[in-house]
Amino acid sequence: MTRSEKVGQLVQLDGSHGYPPDYLGERLRAGGLGSVINNANPDIVKELQRIAVEESRLGIPLLIGRDVIHGFRHVLPIPLGQAATWNPELVLAGARVAAEEAARAGINWTFAPMMDVTRDPRWGRVAECLGEDPHLASELAAAMVRGFQTDDPSAPTAIAACAKHFAGYGGVDAGRDYDTTNLPRNELRNVHLRPFRAAVEAGALSLMTSFSEIDGMPCTASRFLLRQVLRDEWGFEGLVVSDWDSVRQLSIHGLTADDREAAREACEAGVDIEMQGEAYAHHLEELIESGQIAEALLDAAVSNVLRVKCLLGLFERPFVDNDTLPAPDPVRMRATARETARQSLVLLKNHDNLLPLDRGRLKNVALLGPLADAPYQQLGTWIFDGDASLSVTLRQALGEQLGDDIELSYLRVFEHSRSRDTRDMAAACELAAHADVVVLGLGEESILSGEAHSRADIDLPGAQRELVHAVRAAGKPVVGVILAGRPLTLSNVINDFDALLYAWHPGIEAGPAITEVLLGDVSPSGKLPITFPSVVGQVPIYYNHKMTGKPPLPGQVAHIDSLHTRAPQTSLGMSAYHLDAGHRPQFPFGFGLSYGQFHYHDLQLDRHALSVGETLGITVRVTNHGAQAGDEVAQLYVRDLVGNVTRPVRELKGFERVSIGVGETVTVHFELHSEDLGFYDRNDEWRVEPGAFQLWVGGDSDADLESGFYLHPAA
Ligand code: NOJ
Repeated sequence: MTRSEKVGQLVQLDGSHGYPPDYLGERLRAGGLGSVINNANPDIVKELQRIAVEESRLGIPLLIGRDVIHGFRHVLPIPLGQAATWNPELVLAGARVAAEEAARAGINWTFAPMMDVTRDPRWGRVAECLGEDPHLASELAAAMVRGFQTDDPSAPTAIAACAKHFAGYGGVDAGRDYDTTNLPRNELRNVHLRPFRAAVEAGALSLMTSFSEIDGMPCTASRFLLRQVLRDEWGFEGLVVSDWDSVRQLSIHGLTADDREAAREACEAGVDIEMQGEAYAHHLEELIESGQIAEALLDAAVSNVLRVKCLLGLFERPFVDNDTLPAPDPVRMRATARETARQSLVLLKNHDNLLPLDRGRLKNVALLGPLADAPYQQLGTWIFDGDASLSVTLRQALGEQLGDDIELSYLRVFEHSRSRDTRDMAAACELAAHADVVVLGLGEESILSGEAHSRADIDLPGAQRELVHAVRAAGKPVVGVILAGRPLTLSNVINDFDALLYAWHPGIEAGPAITEVLLGDVSPSGKLPITFPSVVGQVPIYYNHKMTGKPPLPGQVAHIDSLHTRAPQTSLGMSAYHLDAGHRPQFPFGFGLSYGQFHYHDLQLDRHALSVGETLGITVRVTNHGAQAGDEVAQLYVRDLVGNVTRPVRELKGFERVSIGVGETVTVHFELHSEDLGFYDRNDEWRVEPGAFQLWVGGDSDADLESGFYLHPAA
């Protein structure tokens, strides 16, 4: 390879404009391009690939990248919704159907999964992440990687996964997208890096750098992250791609003075491919000629890219031959979308067991709100190739299921979720007054979450809150169904709902999945993958926080409304909480109700002391005392009581989704290896530290069925 051909392999350009792709064609023929992003037109992709393979000197096939984030044409729930299923097999199946559809268009590389741990629902990209917990995100990220790539990435419907955004992007200041991240190294390692390691261990072929900076160093230039952690410590052999133009942005950050320096910093740090930017194309060759970058660095980067192309089987099979691929099975795709949507729904409130609705006692149901019949909006963010004509809305599905005997009166009320035009409110209240039950389809439309869509106020947008209050005043039972790309703050509306179902953006099967739950054909089983604050000022609020030196104790948390003006300071409890919001979130991590009633009992450990290197067996029995069968996600939490560095008050260490019939008892088994108790210590070193541990099992992060054990040094 000539030097310029080598550099060409490190260049990725936007291919979204026009056909025939003239400007790309010339680059390809000259060996100046190794990858194209953003074209999913099978004919154009094929032509680009043909030019690369047949008309360039070396005939190296192209990586064709695309953001296939939660489905391709058949859109599944947003990743945060998928995380609410706590079901890695289902998440794997979703990635598989997405890859099957995308591969037929010639796409061989997706920019997913995103596994940025975040504790900030203001951040628009919370929609795309897998929640706040490193263990849950690790399990689901690994499942997605396996779903996209399969065991054999060279298989015709396998596409390369990309673990993103490395690293710490979820910690952006105030949840403002692209902003600075301030994460201490210990927290970075113990929390934020863990899902990336899991993705690497699952075989992810690529990894994308984060737009943000940590501790003065933009991630696209971070040798610590890209060389020390990723290559040296984890042994990653795939390729590293920058985020969109983030090499040139090193100069905007103020780390470098110009594109030339930016190219040098990124290349030295270990960025192999520059996504949609020309700093590498314009400067790498000259940087090597002038001795500022060692040729060996270029060779290593090119090897990483070519290795991935080899593993994908592109040299043997650069073109997609749709005639030889199994025909896409729309029934299976829809079924996967339905099952994922079903399991993603989280029942947050169910006063007096209003849900499931009793069809036999209904004559008239009022369905109101901007998201009850919004085929596009129910799909959520990142739906470049999604087909909204495949969507079935709540209005359609509920109408069908209620049949001719039960009237469904529908009013959209607001044009969109942000609307403040209240002219239809009176009519909405009128419908509510004449109904037996009111179902409100509320939330955020797609455009309010996702990349570049952060919000500082995460209440229901527009005048929806007024609608909830007004409908409540009509005196009928009110069921809220919220479709949103993030946890919303609900404290000012929660009392107005008798029942509340959180649906995230559920994808094409939103309507049928929600209807099944409302009517009791399916018991809700989703669990929150992220804490819900009650007011935005609590953010960041998350379950696996530290103890602090002054933890709030029950009975010692004062409230602003009941303060005596001259109360002594000590009467305030002197601990870590807000006077006006306490220390509790609206809903804790892991929470979600069911139509079953699950009682956890008989927690047993197969021993109460183990040595480093051993595994602890834990069983618990769960009985369904409710009137309906359902799935429950049993969760195991652990606290390391004394550590070389302080440890979280609880950490999720295991979870298991089980189906439990009425009156039935199931035994859930967890295994905890001593390695699962390890952490990075004050010297940045991994350690499994002997000592005492507390342990809880239950249906959410407040689980109170408790035990403990002691970890001894290796025998
Ligand atoms: C920028 C986003 O941050 C990243 O997640 C995405 O994959 C790329 N753009 C490509 O669209």
